[in-house]
Amino acid sequence: MAEFELTRTLREGAGRDALRADVLHGLTRMPKTLPPKWFYDARGSELFDEITRLPEYYPTRAEREILLSRASGIAAATGARTLIELGSGSSDKTRHLLDAFEGLEAYIPVDVSESALRGAARALRREHPRLAVHALVADFTAPLALPAAPGPRLVAFLGGTIGNLLPAERGEFLASVRAMLSPGDFFLLGTDLVKDERVLVTAYDDAAGVTARFNKNVLSVLNRELGADFDPGTFEHVAVWDKKEEWIEMRLRSLVEQTVKVPALDLAVDFAAGEELRTEVSAKFRQDGVREEVRAAGMRLTHWWTDSQGRFALSLSTVS
Ligand code: AVJ
Repeated sequence: MAEFELTRTLREGAGRDALRADVLHGLTRMPKTLPPKWFYDARGSELFDEITRLPEYYPTRAEREILLSRASGIAAATGARTLIELGSGSSDKTRHLLDAFEGLEAYIPVDVSESALRGAARALRREHPRLAVHALVADFTAPLALPAAPGPRLVAFLGGTIGNLLPAERGEFLASVRAMLSPGDFFLLGTDLVKDERVLVTAYDDAAGVTARFNKNVLSVLNRELGADFDPGTFEHVAVWDKKEEWIEMRLRSLVEQTVKVPALDLAVDFAAGEELRTEVSAKFRQDGVREEVRAAGMRLTHWWTDSQGRFALSLSTVS
């Protein structure tokens, strides 16, 4: 029987209120910004999936290589009986871990998308009939109340998504991860690494234009959810490497001077010709930086694994 538990921690309408607050805040300041989490409606998630298969976009393949080659090492290092995955989505990559974790008893996927969680939980129960699956509909950037589960527990945050948080948000996020851990528990983190600028920029500005469509999709989300009248054709996709911050920035550049209406917020937003709206930062990391950030959050880095080309890293940390 493919049964699983599911707990909702988001109140009805929480997503809608958060979108409104983010858009109001981001479009009334200079420079204008939008947080990347609003890319991922059904269409945006499809486009992101397509991105992960692009020849230029290496992070997904690099992380999968590490998971495949190191899963049994991670299992041995942690002895985990519970795996908690933050931002689990389709739990695709997790399968590599689950297959190697022989002592695993419980899997707790955490995601804001209930439909993604249901699909993933159903499939996983079929593939691992003895595994207890307890899906949690929650925003992992807020403190989490986790269901009771046997230790040692491994909290995983994969995909390099930590790079989409700004430095201050990263500190808060890592502190909330630390708060989930008891002595003997572990934190597995996926981080994309600093590398040649051309490789990085090309990964975020592919020849087929999929990333450009993904970037512009956020305007369609605002049109649908807030009644806005963005014309995506009047914006162009921009990807730049910020050498000082060591992050890729995605922006949407207005090709014309225009005013966009956002009726749900009673807002009219002026864009100058050439004005850029920042839609994402994707920070790239070095081992020393990751070690320092987890240390500042009360954890200690114990393992560092990269793919054969040194492009992406998985790190394992424990309570210090
Ligand atoms: C995998 C979600 C972290 O920053 O690389 C892909 C999203 N943005 N192309 C990343 C993304 C543009 C992505 N994350």
